[in-house]
Amino acid sequence: MAYSREDIDRVRERTDLVELASEVTKVKRSGRSVMAVCPFHSEKTPSLSIDPARGLFHCFGCGKSGDVFGWVQETQGLGFSDAVELLARRAGVTLTQDPEAAKKRDRRERLIDAVGRAVSFYHDRLKTADDAGSARSYLRSRGYDSDVVDRFHLGYSPDAWETLVKHLRDSGVRDEAMVGAGLASRSRRGTLVDRFRNRLMFPIYDVRGDAVGFGARLLDGDGPKYLNSPETPIYHKARLLYGLNWSKSQIVRADEAVVVEGYTDVIAFHLADMPVAVATCGTAMGEDHLDLLRRFSKRVVLAFDADEAGAGAAERGFERSVPGDLDLRVAILPEGRDPADLVADGRTEALASAIEGAVPLLQFRIDRELAGFNLHEAESRGKAIRAAAALIALHPDSVVRQEYAVLLSRRTGVDLAIVESAISNRGTRPVPIEVVDEERLTGAQRTEREVLRLLLANDRDIRALGPTADLFSVPQHRAAFEIVEGIVDGLEPGASPDLGSAIGSDERPEAVLLRSLAMQRQPLAEASDVMKRLEQEAVERRIKALQEELATVDAETDPQKYSDLFERIKILQNERRNLRSRE
Ligand code: UTP
Ligand code: MN
Repeated sequence: MAYSREDIDRVRERTDLVELASEVTKVKRSGRSVMAVCPFHSEKTPSLSIDPARGLFHCFGCGKSGDVFGWVQETQGLGFSDAVELLARRAGVTLTQDPEAAKKRDRRERLIDAVGRAVSFYHDRLKTADDAGSARSYLRSRGYDSDVVDRFHLGYSPDAWETLVKHLRDSGVRDEAMVGAGLASRSRRGTLVDRFRNRLMFPIYDVRGDAVGFGARLLDGDGPKYLNSPETPIYHKARLLYGLNWSKSQIVRADEAVVVEGYTDVIAFHLADMPVAVATCGTAMGEDHLDLLRRFSKRVVLAFDADEAGAGAAERGFERSVPGDLDLRVAILPEGRDPADLVADGRTEALASAIEGAVPLLQFRIDRELAGFNLHEAESRGKAIRAAAALIALHPDSVVRQEYAVLLSRRTGVDLAIVESAISNRGTRPVPIEVVDEERLTGAQRTEREVLRLLLANDRDIRALGPTADLFSVPQHRAAFEIVEGIVDGLEPGASPDLGSAIGSDERPEAVLLRSLAMQRQPLAEASDVMKRLEQEAVERRIKALQEELATVDAETDPQKYSDLFERIKILQNERRNLRSRE
């Protein structure tokens, strides 16, 4: 933004990088040089060097470097102009700004001012007003003393229509700002009424520490248990995390953030002396929240109800969208207890160890998937492998996929090669597309396309034979199979599918392939024929893969693995014989 060079230089000159650094990390001076434990990567001995005179830093460990503004941007997760403003405030420098930005800022400041006044108003009411008696006794029952009330600026909104509105008007706040900040709304008669009435008020601060809205808990009577501020120019729930303002420095220090369900859980973590918790504000956690957190710590632990953590993350496909550098984990809390319950019960140890023992999200989901199967039973074990393989295949990193393959193999006792092929048969994402030229198709690939054509026609016989994705060798065919399976799934076999609306305008290569297959005019093959060939080819491939693996195993040093592989190959060869004789 438009800050002048002179302004920026003045701020730089008057800012002491060493002082800034020592607020978030351990700094050691020896003679002229200053070294610090780098807050941007994990280390114990300092490798970050600071040049106090020029206000520059450079880490020899991770390579991060920059000036005072860069430091603040990185450690506090701010943009450049926010960093300039913050340091200007610290240094007592007045910034000159351009008029457009100033106008926007003025509005923001008016809304922030209105919310700030509301925070004080509610807080005073909670502490002193007669009508706040029930709110105070509720707080006592939760174990919140006046220290907690002060630290989190808790408040009480009176059970009346326009106490806040009147108060704000008296202190010069304009109606427009009250409505704009979501504190009041216009009634049908055109008058302003308070949004929050007879509720315990949790002020919500943005990452800079400005109060931008409220979460408000019902005390008695009807209505939603928690009511939040509406979206406003300063309150964006998709990008707000309750508690981040209080927790961020400890999050940076501990290199760990904990995401909990709500306000009371955040407070509980503070009471338990682990101020690293944040909560979303009346919305599910999304990618923007993770982006915000990622600026402070790469390790993020989800500590809400296990079912919700797993299911919620699964729905949003975090494995795929989460950037590789984020270590997203799930804490397994004692059944039916949230962090606030645990702290209220005096079980902070249990809470701390659940956080410490948090497992990676993917591992958590695999464990839960496996728990649903009887691993002592061959068939069920096969299903378990398939289900877990489908999850592992989602991970974008092939090294990580390999790690999980080993883990899954160990956990189930199923040979690693089988697990690996189950994973690669699921096709990883993004689907690697092999553009195969019609002329150069192998026999197996032609067979696969024939099966796809039969499915596109919703042929009765192929439906009855039920081909599966793992029978396809070409990733693109597998992806196409998933699509066409989705199309015919709900249809009576034989009924013609509406391909136009299903894939008519889908530009993914596998959909394009399906369209071209659907338009081919030559007669369809016999379903049982192509199905048999498909199965034979798949068995051939598995045999070949196992034989290749067998060649790498030393029968002397690893006799168990050798004989296991040998056994599997024999079984598959048997299957191949059966398929051949099924004429
Ligand atoms: P709880 O339902 O446990 O709230 O939700 P509570 O205030 O602790 O109530 P009791 O005493 O257990 O019945 C935990 C957190 O989830 C959020 C709140 O932030 C709360 O702190 N929450 C809950 C909502 O945002 N909206 C809701 O409707 C419910
Ligand atoms: Mn609760």
